[in-house]
Formats: sequence, C-alpha cells, structure tokens
Amino acid sequence: MTNFIFSRKNININHGKGVHLYTVDGTKYLDLGASYACVPAGHNHPHIISAIQTQLEKLSYVQGSYPISIRDDFYEKLVQISPGNIQNVWLCNSGTEANEAAIKFARHATQRSQIISTRQAFHGRTMGSLSATWKPTYKKGFGPLIPDFDFVTFGDIESLTDSISEDTAAVIVEPIQGEGGVNLPPSNYLQEVRKVTEEVGAAMILDEIQTGLGRTGSFWNCNQTNVVPDILTSAKGMASGLPIGVTLCKDWIAENPGDHGSTFSGGPVICAAGNATIDVIINENLPENASKIGSYLLKELKDTIGSKTRDIRGSGLLLGIEVKRGSGPILTKLAKDHGILALPAGKTVVRILPPLTLNRSHADDFILAMNDLLEDVL
Ligand SMILES: Cc1ncc(COP(=O)(O)O)c(C=O)c1O
Repeated sequence: MTNFIFSRKNININHGKGVHLYTVDGTKYLDLGASYACVPAGHNHPHIISAIQTQLEKLSYVQGSYPISIRDDFYEKLVQISPGNIQNVWLCNSGTEANEAAIKFARHATQRSQIISTRQAFHGRTMGSLSATWKPTYKKGFGPLIPDFDFVTFGDIESLTDSISEDTAAVIVEPIQGEGGVNLPPSNYLQEVRKVTEEVGAAMILDEIQTGLGRTGSFWNCNQTNVVPDILTSAKGMASGLPIGVTLCKDWIAENPGDHGSTFSGGPVICAAGNATIDVIINENLPENASKIGSYLLKELKDTIGSKTRDIRGSGLLLGIEVKRGSGPILTKLAKDHGILALPAGKTVVRILPPLTLNRSHADDFILAMNDLLEDVL
C-alpha cells in the first residue's frame, strides 16, 4: 500500500482543454482553480504546447552555464515585462525557491538579517520561505525555523514602521494575500511600504507568485501602483504548468555568479514554455480579460449572493467569497453537483483563480451554482 504525502481528491483527471478538465470517464469540469493558478492561458494552449514540443525535440536540457538562445530570449522578455525594467534574473523551479533566493539575496546585499513579513502571509514551505509564512499549522513540528523573521499586520503601515529599522534586510509582502484569505490592503499600502523600506535601506520583496501574469488586470499587480520593488518573485503559471520560479532583482541586490545556484536553473524546455506563456498572455490581452470578467463576476456575485455571505472581495480573477460556515462542503458540492472546481483560502473562503481566458458564460455558470448551493448549505 502506497502512502501519499499529498492529499488526494476523488476525481481522476485525464486531460484538459481551455478552462475545462475531463476525467477518465469523460466527466467535464469547469476549472476555476487552474491548479493553483498554474495555467493562466488555459489547459493545453496550442501555441504553448507546440513551443514545448519543438524545444523538447531540439534540446531537452543543458546546464545553465552554457548560454542558449531560448534562455537568453526568456531573460530578455522577463526584463522587458518587469516593472521599472529590473535587469537581473534568477531562474529556479518553484515559488518557494524564488522567495528563498529573494531572502538570501536581500540578506547578502544589505549584510543585515531581519526579514519582516505580514500576518496571514503565504510565501512557501522551504525553511526560509516557511519562516516568512504566517500560518502556525504549516510550521508546527518543523522548528527551529530561521531566526530573525518578524510579522506585522498586513495593510497597516504603522505596524510596519513600528518594527522596521536600519537592521532590517527586507520586507516581503504579497500585493493581495491569496492563500491567507484573498485579503486586499488599502490602495496606497504598496507605495507606503516602498517609501518606508527606502528610508531605512531595506529591500522590498514583492511576492507576485499568485497576483502576477495578468491575474489582477495588469501583467503585475504593482503596475497599477507604479511601485518598483527591489526584488519581485513569480512562479506558478509562468511556464504554464512546468516547474518554474523567477526572482527579478535590481542591480544593488544582484548576486555574483556562483553565490547561489540550482542544477535546473533555466532549462531550455522551461524557457520555451515561459516565452510562449508570456507571448500568449500579452497577444491575447489576457490581463484585460481578467479585469473585465473579474469585475463582472465581483459585481454579479455581490448582487446575487452578497446577502448570503460574509464578504466577497478580490481583484481581476483572484476572487474570494467568505461564507458564513466552512468552505469545505461548498467546494465539495460545487464539484459534485455542478461540475465546478474551486479552491479554499483558509477555512471560510472559497477562492477562484481560473485561467484568464474565462468568459461571461463560464462566470454565469459559477454564479448560478453558488446561488443554488448557498440555499442548501446555509
Ligand atoms: C504568494 C505565494 N508565494 C509563494 C508560494 C509558493 O509557491 P510554490 O508552491 O510553487 O512553492 C505560493 C503558492 O501558493 C503563493 O501563493
């Protein structure tokens, strides 16, 4: 008998196309979780699949120190789409590694040790990123974690000014907390974090792993605020489901080659997938669609089921519906009775992170389903 470390759902997925997943027996699901935002352009987008196949046949892997044009193209694209033209790129294999690198780089560049994170934050599960993650249940039994990590109240600049000092290496923050409950800060929060970090010479690490790639209506959420962080991290759907992490950093943060490393940094197939994903997001105007359909969903959900919930919030296609009781039974019924897959964010929030190709008719199906089943589970 095999023991699985990952929890298992009772749905045997066989293939995917666009916003849908299909089981082995042909049941169709509307995928509003996109496997934790990993397929922004939808499942099996033909341009992305073709780019991966072409590269796979040419060269499946070569170590990062041999320059190859597909990786150079990817570096260039990442710099071009970065906020404020951030010039230095580190590639790795997951979100937690991207943040791990960010923490190391910030400590190295500042020669300071304190890292300030926020309550309810989620930054990953390796030791450094886990130390910056808030939820005690994720940490229980794994200590001692890395010293000198402190937490302030998300969205409250006074809480940050009380803790930050010239001993602070970095402040790490999500523009909108995803896993922590789809929590939005006040509109000027990122600008204030930028100002306060600059005043003490600490790095600002912006974790756009969930909010980036067009999800909230612009390529990066920070494009809406004109904030340029010192370090920006990305992962999830950047290679449309192949493992990737990206740490973009300003010149004063950038490491010397060899100070940090990873065998799989910038493999050619991943870079091909990354180039194609960025092209599709831009050429198909997916941030604009996320903004349009997201605003529609937010308004219609509020009008239809607002009174049956505690709160409905979010930006673009990162939305959270805070229900009056647990989100678990609702997620189960959504899948079982309505063929819709969504995600939790904590115990009481139903989170949706669909492919950015979602249209109005898919949105309407979700609204109808939520309206229907909130009657039952209330
Ligand atoms: C904001 C944020 N940071 C970091 C991570 C960790 O990414 P990964 O699971 O790829 O390690 C996640 C994953 O959900 C995330 O949402």
